[in-house]
Amino acid sequence: MPTREQVHNFAAGPSPLPTTVLEEAALGLLNYEETGMGICELSHRGKEFKAVIEGAEADLRALLSIPENYTILFTQGGGTGQFSAVLLNLLSAHRLANPVPAEEFKPPVVDYVVTGSWSSKAYSEAQRLSLPPFPSCPSFSEPRIAASTKSTNWTRLPSKEEYNFNKDAAYIYYCENETINGIEFPPKPEDDSAFPFDLVPEGVNLVADYSSSFISRPIPNIEKHAVIYAGAQKNLGPSGVTVLIIRNDLLVDTTQASKLGCVPPVPITYEWKILADNGSLYNTPPTFPIYVSALVLKHLISEKGGLQGLEKTNKAKAELLYQTLDDAESKGKVKLVVREKSARSWMNVTFTIEGEGQEKKFLEGAEKRGFRQLKGHRSVGGIRASIYNAVTLDSINLLCEYIKEFCGK
Ligand SMILES: Cc1ncc(COP(=O)(O)O)c(C=O)c1O
Repeated sequence: MPTREQVHNFAAGPSPLPTTVLEEAALGLLNYEETGMGICELSHRGKEFKAVIEGAEADLRALLSIPENYTILFTQGGGTGQFSAVLLNLLSAHRLANPVPAEEFKPPVVDYVVTGSWSSKAYSEAQRLSLPPFPSCPSFSEPRIAASTKSTNWTRLPSKEEYNFNKDAAYIYYCENETINGIEFPPKPEDDSAFPFDLVPEGVNLVADYSSSFISRPIPNIEKHAVIYAGAQKNLGPSGVTVLIIRNDLLVDTTQASKLGCVPPVPITYEWKILADNGSLYNTPPTFPIYVSALVLKHLISEKGGLQGLEKTNKAKAELLYQTLDDAESKGKVKLVVREKSARSWMNVTFTIEGEGQEKKFLEGAEKRGFRQLKGHRSVGGIRASIYNAVTLDSINLLCEYIKEFCGK
């Protein structure tokens, strides 16, 4: 039976967490700060848990430099829950900003940038919800695709000329890092495939899914976003908690909006305002995932050099692995999935092993050396090495050695 030290876990999520954090969490699970009770046995409204959630919020705000006019929420329902919540809350915000009588209300469009599996899923959910709540008065017209790289199988990002944003859209949506396909918007604006913040029409709300790249490096133009969200289970903590960063003017009363007609009220646990008014404690929150996330944040700040330290290490990890794979590709042994170098994800490195039966052989050899969960997503196959914050440079070095050995040095 292997120990934690003998295993290198490249899971795409849920993903590895720092061992020291898990050790502390294990103690807290049994006896939190000498209360004689475990963290999961304490009321979410008690002073102990209040300190945990407020500490997590303050640390996250400091780590990511989140401006004061944004609210941080901890909630449930995952990234998938936000596919729906984003649409419903932002349509209500749009309706309240356009309080004309229902008969005069012009349904807005919503724009999606589709660059991989997860933004496709978000778009499909918007399509599903586009069935009008009141047939005579739809709350929005069909979601639009503002740019898509589906025709090239998500192996690149759109270039600037390919974007076509609508100036009257209720929002524009994109996914910063596509976990399944291994494609990520580069942070430098001069890169042709960087997200075109300058093309976002004035006053249109910008929404980003940061689930698989959250706190791996600074968020470019955080203040140009209306909403940023992320499931915790990659870089932050265990599955079960979703973090939202929402500009305060978008915390709207959706019941009020629905009274104007043409938009539905939002199910109560998905209404951002309700969550915000109650400090993320409207109903029972996922206390254990929030507790572990709070410990991870402290660990990243005190042990990993904060966001600058994480960026430096994550860059070094990604560069080393991609260089090794580029070399292996030049020998014809592997093929990187994402062809455009600047669009390659720092977090999810996707490739295939060339040759009949070779992938199976690669995975078997990997397993013997302690490399786990390298199989690509079931929808696309191939190999995926997810190298989130808790995956060390040492693990990457060992994986690179194995790739070189497999491909013949
Ligand atoms: C980028 C991205 N968005 C959304 C999701 C969906 O998250 P959840 O499974 O928490 O609903 C995932 C899941 O892996 C993801 O990677």
